[in-house]
Amino acid sequence: MLTSADPDSILIQGPRIVDPGRGMDAIGDILITGGKIVSAGPRLSPADLPEGCRPIPANGMVAAPGFIDLHCHLREPGYEYKETIATGTRAAARGGFTSICCMPNTDPPLDNEAAVALVQQRARAEGVVRVFPIGCVTKGRRGKELAELEELAAAGVVAYSDDGDPVYDPNLMRLALTYTLDLGLPISNHCQEHRLCPGGVMAEGWAATRLGLPGIPAAAEEAMIARDLALAELTGGWLHLAHLSTAGAVALVRQARERGVSVTTEVCPHHLSLTDDWALGYQGTPDGGSGPLNYDTSTKVYPPLRGRQDVDALIEGLADGVIDCIATDHAPHEAASKQVTYQEAAFGISVFETALGSLMALVHRGQISLSTLVDRLTVGPARVLGPSFEELATLHPGSPADVVLFDPDLDWVVDTGEFASKGRNTPLEGVALKGRVVTTFVEGKVVHQDSLY
Ligand code: DOR
Repeated sequence: MLTSADPDSILIQGPRIVDPGRGMDAIGDILITGGKIVSAGPRLSPADLPEGCRPIPANGMVAAPGFIDLHCHLREPGYEYKETIATGTRAAARGGFTSICCMPNTDPPLDNEAAVALVQQRARAEGVVRVFPIGCVTKGRRGKELAELEELAAAGVVAYSDDGDPVYDPNLMRLALTYTLDLGLPISNHCQEHRLCPGGVMAEGWAATRLGLPGIPAAAEEAMIARDLALAELTGGWLHLAHLSTAGAVALVRQARERGVSVTTEVCPHHLSLTDDWALGYQGTPDGGSGPLNYDTSTKVYPPLRGRQDVDALIEGLADGVIDCIATDHAPHEAASKQVTYQEAAFGISVFETALGSLMALVHRGQISLSTLVDRLTVGPARVLGPSFEELATLHPGSPADVVLFDPDLDWVVDTGEFASKGRNTPLEGVALKGRVVTTFVEGKVVHQDSLY
């Protein structure tokens, strides 16, 4: 234990420490010095503390490893009017995320070393949390030929994806999965068979029928998931399935896991908490507001919001581990791209700053335990990213002090005017949530402090 004066020492006093990687869920203290965890365990006595250590009272709060997000869109380079690395990482910090993986559907796309280096350099200069780029699977995300996967690995990408679009060509997908055996990085596929949903903008079902909008059947997602699972089985390669949204998808993964297929999966907060009837506006109240033709374009997202049975199956899969982790798919857009008809609106929801509040509803309703929720936001994504990420997902002594402190019971109302993200595109505007991030630390430095505290 350090005893000499250390101005960088912080003592987080008395939170409920939830550290699933160490099987820990108990009241205690966390001592941080020089950006590292010194101890996270039983309460400390004053004699154990370094001189000059700054106390942070945290009674009634939860302290956990900072959340890790496998899937977000930072929009830089190319779409800085939607988000930048500076605003996106501040939004992540407000959501309790300390490590985020950004998708390559930028302009230019992240399909070469220079583009990846640009994001890394901007993130070092302007980011407040750790940023890990994901590289393209195919050149230009065009789906015609593989990108230089080895060059991208050497540049430091943590996975490959053409997110926003699937890898269509099954033979190219087979080849990419085969390469993962040497590269040791997953292919994250956005599974959607577009030919099953030409022009589709929301889930096929009664809400789409009522609004007269073309639907996207569950089979569009499940057909490609089935294809990819068969290819993962054939090659032995590493498939990661992005943003699962249907009950059938969960069932397919469950069966594949039983056969030993090497597949990892993620689910988004909105697919765990919202249903397709939210597209009708007024949070799914069909006759609320200005009448039956009302709709809310901020609910338009890929894959679409689905029905209650799908949401329940996703929660069950998350609870029992068929789904490894929660990923935000934070997809910020400028106001103009949503202030149009439902068909013209861009797909995507700004998620970072509401993620914890909407996920805590599952805990408050007893659908998953707090420790499972934290596991799926830390240990789960770290497992997908590989052994070097383990230390970012735990409060084990010696680990970097990436920590989130949150009040699990704080009631608040979403006000997008407070967002750090440029993307105000969320159907949760004005919605009451319970559970809010209070402080986020990266390497012992405060990168977000909530104004309510
Ligand atoms: O809703 C979505 N928006 N889904 C995606 O897969 C892409 C994303 C975006 O880039 O806006």
